[in-house]
Amino acid sequence: MAKPLIQAVPPSLFDALKPQAQDPLLALMAEFRTDKREGKIDLGVGMYRDASGITPVMRAVKAAERILFETQTTKGYMGPEGDAVFVDLLKPIVFGDIFAKNDRVVGLQAPGGTGALRLGAELIAAVSPRAKVWLGEPTWPNHRPLLNAARLAVEGFKHFDRAAQTLLFDETMGALTKAAPGDVVLLQACCHNPTGADYTMDQWRAIAETLAARGLVPFFDFAYQGLGDGLDADAAGMRLVLDHVDEALVGYASDKNFGVYRERVGALYVVAGNARAANAAYTQALALARANWSMPSDHGAAAVRLVLQSPELRRDWSAELDTMRARVLANRARLAALNPRLSAVTRQRGMFSQLDVTPETVTQLKDTHGIYMVGSGRINVAGFRDDGEVVRFAEALASAG
Ligand code: LMR
Repeated sequence: MAKPLIQAVPPSLFDALKPQAQDPLLALMAEFRTDKREGKIDLGVGMYRDASGITPVMRAVKAAERILFETQTTKGYMGPEGDAVFVDLLKPIVFGDIFAKNDRVVGLQAPGGTGALRLGAELIAAVSPRAKVWLGEPTWPNHRPLLNAARLAVEGFKHFDRAAQTLLFDETMGALTKAAPGDVVLLQACCHNPTGADYTMDQWRAIAETLAARGLVPFFDFAYQGLGDGLDADAAGMRLVLDHVDEALVGYASDKNFGVYRERVGALYVVAGNARAANAAYTQALALARANWSMPSDHGAAAVRLVLQSPELRRDWSAELDTMRARVLANRARLAALNPRLSAVTRQRGMFSQLDVTPETVTQLKDTHGIYMVGSGRINVAGFRDDGEVVRFAEALASAG
């Protein structure tokens, strides 16, 4: 008689797992939500907030959603490229009218700026697994995990002197000199997260020339266009670089400048040396998208597309974006006027500044005043709902020592 088979008991997949700590920024969001105190101020996650304290759906986007609701006849599948018209209409905004027509530039929709960056990182890892990515720090805390998840090696360099509140340009140039040909340099196109410290045009020129001379590939994270100095001004440094180099990637987010955060609207653009290579990169990116999310979700990109297709909605979007930017700049000016310790924030741009405060001060501001900011000292300058909140913050900071 045959012996009964002894079934091997497979080791448990999850029993030995330890819980993973929550992302600190997302944890802060949750903590703020459950704080019952009147007058709490959220300067944590990077979202624009209006005078009533909400992150509004922009007028033009709301109008586009109404049109979508009325006219959309199907929810049938698109494809891994997403909404190709959205990607095309965005192109001149990102690259300028002339460069956008260049057949070396291809793009596809991605789930938010994060999805675009992840897709770009995977494309780099697929074609050049040994390429190192150089990353100025401090940076958005998700950059390293995202690049590592795509199995790319990351080498950091210092971007910012927090005590002096200045950008460390020599460190950038030092990194570009050390990087090996074929390495990738992740650059934030504008409104640096978390410091607000952007390169000047002269610095962008030096970066462009060095990238070109050393055969390095820029990978732009472009998430805040229009929230610094204006749509074209915020793209100027990146466009200058693109005039110098053959190859580049751009991870673009429409989430902030169209206020469609939770819809996750972004695009990955690839600039290649010629149209044939661009097309090959496009097909590779499509295959990676297919393996990741198959197809990006449609709604937000369709709404943005409708805004960009209508001259009237486009004008209104641009006007509302101007108002948002003006508010951010006004908050910066007000903060600097109220507290000399905050004078540098007028030199910085976009939603964020990273203040020279200790983690103890950050905790004290939260516990004593209900003011939430990131542990690194980052504040979201677009998070104040009104002037009163700006004043309360400046005073609380002064009293915290
Ligand atoms: C932020 O830095 O606050 C935003 O980019 C939100 C996020 O996903 O981290």
